[in-house]
Amino acid sequence: MSPVRESITKGVVSPVRQVPASIARPEYVGKKRASLWTGGDVHSAETIEKIRISARIAAQALAEVGRHVAPGVTTDELDRIGHEFVLDHGAYPSTLGYPGAAGRPAFPKALCTSVNEVICHGIPDSTVIEEGDIVKVDITAFKDGVHGDNCGSFIAGEGSDGAQKLVSTTHEAMMRGIKAAQPGREVNVIGRVIEKYAARHGFESVRSYTGHGVGPAFHTGLVIPHYDAAPHHADVIEVGMVFTVEPMLCMGSEENHEWDDGWTVVTDDRSWVAQFEHTIVITETGPEVLTLP
Ligand code: MF3
Ligand code: CO
Ligand code: CO
Repeated sequence: MSPVRESITKGVVSPVRQVPASIARPEYVGKKRASLWTGGDVHSAETIEKIRISARIAAQALAEVGRHVAPGVTTDELDRIGHEFVLDHGAYPSTLGYPGAAGRPAFPKALCTSVNEVICHGIPDSTVIEEGDIVKVDITAFKDGVHGDNCGSFIAGEGSDGAQKLVSTTHEAMMRGIKAAQPGREVNVIGRVIEKYAARHGFESVRSYTGHGVGPAFHTGLVIPHYDAAPHHADVIEVGMVFTVEPMLCMGSEENHEWDDGWTVVTDDRSWVAQFEHTIVITETGPEVLTLP
């Protein structure tokens, strides 16, 4: 048996990595808060083609970073790899400089690294990945005025049977939620499917963080819950809509709290969490995943 991993604690965050002036920044960089998006969630064919390009860069970046998840690697090193990959593809890493809640600092890195009991929004730092850790990497690329957002869970080394089952069940829950996103249905169908599938496998689905409309804005205001929110969140799914599905499933209770860094979210009971995320577009024939390499 491998020794039980200690709780995750705050590490040292490295200096901000630079972005060449030739790379266009999203509007919120350097501002107190992101502008409110009022343009809706149904996009033109032209905008969708642009989102497809950003989404592909994000997916390729995720695969590249994921290849480097291994015992002994720091989460800061993962940030360096993702940061450079996105810049090399002419895009901006959307989380870098993304404004926080009132009075909180902006997110300081090119991707989120959330290890074990960290649900989401983990800040890459000097934390060293250990054998069996579940490392969630969430990376978003901004190019030609639009964002593509995705996340994956990677196990360092072999991983316990429990960790492997959590990761595979979370991926399957996401895919089932995506398949349920058919035009004419309410968005709450997605979370209903995800929560039911999670529960069948003994896992809880996080309620306080959700999927979202994405494209010309990082977060458009449209909310996609990963639990059964009916009769709320009754927005009707339409052809041309673009949004994320990004369930977080927990081995224990989904109750959670935020660290005083203003970002890192952890389960109250320290139970481990997996997450996957895709950006999807709704077509006449159903959902299409855009975040593919
Ligand atoms: N990519 C995350 C999402 O899926 C958002 C991260 S915002 C950050 O919505 F500031 F924490 F990076
Ligand atoms: Co994301
Ligand atoms: Co997202």
